[in-house]
Order: sequence, then structure tokens, then C-alpha cells
Amino acid sequence: MSTNLAAPVASVVAAPAAQPWRVGLIGFGCVGQGLYDILQQRPETGFTISRIAVKTPGKARTLPAERFEFDADALLSDDSLDVLVEVIDDADTAFRLVSEALRRGRRVVTANKAMLARHLPALVQLQREGQGTLLYEAAVCGSIPVIRTLDAYFGTEPLRRLTGILNGSSNYVLTRMGEAGSDYAPALVEAQQLGFAETDPSLDMGAFDPRSKAVLLAAHAYGAFLNPDEVLNLGIEGISAVDIAFAASQGQKIKVVAGLQRLPDGRVTALVTPQLVGPESPLYSVDHEFNGVVIEADFAGEQFLRGRGAGGHPTGSAVLADLAALRQGFAYQYPKAAEAPAYASDLEVEIYLRTDEDRIIDLLDFSEISEEADEDEYVVGYVALANLIRHRDTLRKYGAFIVRTGQLRPVGEAVAAALEQA
Ligand SMILES: NC(=O)c1ccc[n+]([C@@H]2O[C@H](COP(=O)([O-])OP(=O)(O)OC[C@H]3O[C@@H](n4cnc5c(N)ncnc54)[C@H](OP(=O)(O)O)[C@@H]3O)[C@@H](O)[C@H]2O)c1
Repeated sequence: MSTNLAAPVASVVAAPAAQPWRVGLIGFGCVGQGLYDILQQRPETGFTISRIAVKTPGKARTLPAERFEFDADALLSDDSLDVLVEVIDDADTAFRLVSEALRRGRRVVTANKAMLARHLPALVQLQREGQGTLLYEAAVCGSIPVIRTLDAYFGTEPLRRLTGILNGSSNYVLTRMGEAGSDYAPALVEAQQLGFAETDPSLDMGAFDPRSKAVLLAAHAYGAFLNPDEVLNLGIEGISAVDIAFAASQGQKIKVVAGLQRLPDGRVTALVTPQLVGPESPLYSVDHEFNGVVIEADFAGEQFLRGRGAGGHPTGSAVLADLAALRQGFAYQYPKAAEAPAYASDLEVEIYLRTDEDRIIDLLDFSEISEEADEDEYVVGYVALANLIRHRDTLRKYGAFIVRTGQLRPVGEAVAAALEQA
């Protein structure tokens, strides 16, 4: 069966505001507790957490044991709950719960970007078919209202480009390396000690987490439903103080930037990699654990959103905003889904590559090299995006570090220019 993502999602009829809404909360970790705490402090918001499902019996909790139950499915079938909030750390179970809730026509809020990025077309289709509604502002940049801004405010306006720092953990590490001149390992340990990075940092430092967020942004900004595996993500595990110094010598910083761009032929590309960022960009001053998004719209021009991308209260605040939006009958419209632009990977990307393995340089098959420094083991030049995607695991395995300069061009442009000159 083909998926018609262009059909409108029905908005759930708004409930009378006088009755507090009964919330079924699935997950009571960082985000779940953040939401609980905000609702405790703001009872006048009109939401009350009626049931809480978690996973592990006997675990020490901040609330009395009788507040918790251990079968999340029981909340799905409780019609007295007005809305379900899914904030668990298991993407497969989250997809099962959220999709089943939508099949039953329930209102659902989730923060699970990994689950959403894998299953967004199916979840949109379920909403088209049933009466359920799914909101997920907290899944991208925590407290920054970027999804609703793209879906509702910029729903009718074409966007040239969208660039963002979407992961606070890697941004914290990069900022500390720049400030302290330190190397990667101590900066990561510091981020972990301060709670800005997970014990297993691979999803954040390997740019898998911001790639999931970029996939969600592409759906709302362009109507492009991308397969996360096809989107290039390069991380910062191979970075060293030498790279930070190289960027600084050019008056720039290294940031992990998600770049979504409309090409002149209408196709869209998406890349999530370290990038050189100069002071002319609003992202230059997005430091430490903060996130930022720059929207470049055809008519509105440039807009910049900056804020906290993670943490119990900022993320809980975004979940609460979704609850309030649901109560007003809001649903995402995916207004550009009918445009469904094709995804472009036939491009060349200008990169700085530092590696002590000559075979990595051979593997990437540079079409043009503008700078080479044997002593510092780096090369600057153009490579095919398809090569970067194909060899990203090898790059990671050999500790190669890559930074985009921000320049993109069609494959074969250098060849065409050379032929023209001949
Ligand atoms: N942390 C952030 O700042 C942040 C920001 C944006 C988005 N998110 C996303 O929000 C979600 C939750 O993150 P978190 O940081 O709050 O996670 P967390 O602190 O690890 O907490 C996860 C919670 O999920 C519960 N859980 C796991 N499997 C369950 C199941 N099958 N049934 C019921 N409960 C289950 C756990 O139960 P137990 O307590 O029994 O272990 C725990 O309470 C994730 O998808 C994450 O990517 C997090």
C-alpha cells in the first residue's frame, strides 16, 4: 500500500478547558520527572498526572512506590486518560506503544527522536488513517520551539536552508576544547561529570543523535521524509587540539552542524558533520550545552532560535507546550509533504581531513586538493558526498577527523570547468 503523506491530519477536537486533563505518563526518568516537577509547580496549567508506568520494580524513586505501575499497555487502554506522554529510553518499545496508541485514536506526546526518525512515515500515516494525534517538540532541541515554528509558521514559505547545532553534549565538548585548549578525552570526561554527556557517549559524539533530529526537521521544513541511514553523520571522536587550532587560525570554531539545504533544482540535501563556523554565523556564539537553529526563508529572511536542548526542565517544558497545544486541538499538518522533494547525494563537499593513514586519502578519492600539510597530516579539498557516506564507518574506525568548510558543489563541476578551459 502506498503511503499518502500529503493528506491532512485531522485535528483532535479541543476538550473543554475547565476540566483538568488526565495524563498517562510512560517513563519517569530525566524527562518524565522534569514534566512531573513542572506540573507540581504549575497546577493551574490544568494537567494532572494520573498514572505513571515505568519498567523496573523495586527501583528507588522520588515518589511513593504506589504511584508507579509496570505495564505501559494498561495506560493505552485506559479511556479515562486524555493524553499519553511516552518518554522512555527504548526506541523499539516506544514505537510499539506510540503506534498502538495512535491506532486507538489516542493523543500522544513523545520525546523519542531515534524512534521518530526511523518510523516517521508510518506514524504520520497512522494519524491520517485514525483520529490519533502525535506531537514531539521535545524530540528536537529540547526547549526550542522549532518543529511547531516550521510546521505552523513556515508551513507556506519555501526555505533555502536550515542549519543547527542540535546536540548539546558534543557542543559542550567542542566549546571546552576551544576554551581550555584541552584534548577530546578530558573535555568529554568533564562533560560526563557535569551531566552534559551520557556514560555511553557514542550516539552524541558520533552525531547519530543530531542526525535523527535533522531527519525530523527535514520532514517539517521541506516535506522530505529521509531515511536516517542515507544522511551523512560524522562525529568528533577523532578530533584533537590540532584541529581546534587550525580552525582558530582561520578565525573560526568547529561545531557539529546539521545542514539542510534546498538545491537550485528543488532537491534537498542533509548533512550532519563537524563544520567550520565563522563569527558571521549566529551559530558561532552557541556554546557549551546550548542548541541553536538558523532558518533561512525565501521571504522572511534569516531567523535564529537559541536555547537549552536537553535536561529535565527544558525538555519537560516542551512536553508541556505540546500538551497545551493538543488541548487547543493542534496537530502537525506536514504542510510540505505534498512537495516530497527528492534527496540529493550527488554532490561534492569541501572538507578538511586529518589522518595519518594514506589509505583514507586514497579511499575518499579527492576530486581537487587545495591545501596539503604533511607535518600536520591534513588535506583540504573536495570529495564526493557519496564517498563520505560509503566510507563513514572506516573513517570512524581509523580515527580520521573531518570538518566541512561549508562549500558544496555538484559532482563533476571541477571536471566541467577544466573541460571548459581546455
Ligand atoms: N534527557 C533529555 O534531556 C532528553 C532530551 C530530549 C529528548 N529525550 C528523549 O526522551 C526519552 C526519555 O529520555 P530520559 O533521558 O528521560 O530517559 P531516562 O532518564 O533513561 O528514563 C527512561 C525511563 O523510561 C522507563 N522505561 C524504559 N522502558 C520502559 C518500558 N518498557 N515501560 C515503561 N517505562 C519504561 C524507565 O523506567 P525505570 O525508571 O524503571 O528504569 C525510566 O523511567 C528518550 O527517548 C530521549 O531520547 C531526552
